[in-house]
Amino acid sequence: MNILITGGAGYIGSHTVVELLENGHSVVVYDNYSNSSNESIKRVEKIVNTSILLEEGDIRNRDRLREVFTAHKIEAVIHFAGLKAVGESVEQPLRYYDNNVGGSVALLEVMEEFGCKKFVFSSSATVYGDPHTVPITEDFPLSATNPYGQSKLFVEEILRDLSTSDDAWQIILLRYFNPVGAHKSGTIGEDPNGIPNNLMPFISQTAVGKREYLSVFGDDYDTKDGSGVRDYIHVVDLANAHFKAIEKINSVEKVATINLGTGNGYSVIEMVKAFEEASGKKVPYKTAPRRAGDIAECYADPKYAKEFLGWEATRGIKEMCEDAWRWQSQNPQGY
Ligand code: NAD
Ligand code: UD1
Repeated sequence: MNILITGGAGYIGSHTVVELLENGHSVVVYDNYSNSSNESIKRVEKIVNTSILLEEGDIRNRDRLREVFTAHKIEAVIHFAGLKAVGESVEQPLRYYDNNVGGSVALLEVMEEFGCKKFVFSSSATVYGDPHTVPITEDFPLSATNPYGQSKLFVEEILRDLSTSDDAWQIILLRYFNPVGAHKSGTIGEDPNGIPNNLMPFISQTAVGKREYLSVFGDDYDTKDGSGVRDYIHVVDLANAHFKAIEKINSVEKVATINLGTGNGYSVIEMVKAFEEASGKKVPYKTAPRRAGDIAECYADPKYAKEFLGWEATRGIKEMCEDAWRWQSQNPQGY
């Protein structure tokens, strides 16, 4: 299939481009480089040994999107483009709603104009809010505690409404748990701006000496060791699930909603230990107060992904940490 990848120069998008090209699909990457550059795509070209069609543009720019849909026969869209920093979304809600919700609406309108109605959306486990229990299945109640999460929930609702209005749409909502790790080559990976908010990039920057120590947010949660528990998933497993989603999209009736996680929860302390083992480096840490908005435990029930997509994660935390470390140590300043 010929697939438009919005946000394809970003962390998950670039890994997905590798996976799709290696499995015989063609792609057009569409990105405004607001949180990336074309360097990631240059490196992807080296991995797959082929050149990649790159179109610079913003998903809010309908005319630019029309040019791209006119120039390339797009059969499906995987929509990664979006802003993703929770704290920033609290400070700049309008920017987040404009980019993530407004941008998605513009993209869907142009797709409709061109009769392209196959859509894979990057959603997040954040739409489960504070789950009453774990593991989390797809039918759990939905809620959001910040504008970023709300923007994901709004787009999910818009997509459900769209499919009700027109049966021709075939939509897959993928709810990611915590993506970590990097491609085996160590040439592409996660490259956050400034001080990382997320655990894994913070751990790897501490291991490489860029940060003095990790603050462990909370040691009194009702979990195995008191620190927060999450479902970390290797980004290459996640990328592979997008390939499986594309393979299945013709059989979707309206909207399919799928958790992408491993089903295993690891604590912050377990992640620190696993990373130390994988890297051979010390990761100094100090206990700090709980971070506002954090929950104790969050992990997926991944059964439906296996049933519907025939997909399950195959890479464990050792591999996640080894690959994150290879990327970090080979690229201490990122791209
Ligand atoms: P990322 O920031 O690395 O990639 C997003 C890409 O989208 C970037 O290349 C950015 O330049 C581009 N972009 C942003 N706004 C755009 C716009 N208006 N027009 C065109 N391009 C635009 O993030 P990522 O980690 O690869 O995340 C991809 C998607 O997955 C996002 O929608 C994110 O919300 C979602 N998600 C990510 C995580 C995670 O932990 N990384 C978890 C759950 C969901
Ligand atoms: C965060 C986002 C969520 C997003 C997800 C995946 C928040 C509140 N939530 O989730 O919306 O979908 O990333 O990108 O930001 N931790 C530390 N020290 C640190 C950083 C994190 O102890 O310096 C702990 C956290 O308290 C948590 C775990 O590590 O227990 C994972 O944190 P993080 O990587 O930020 O992911 P989430 O909080 O799960």
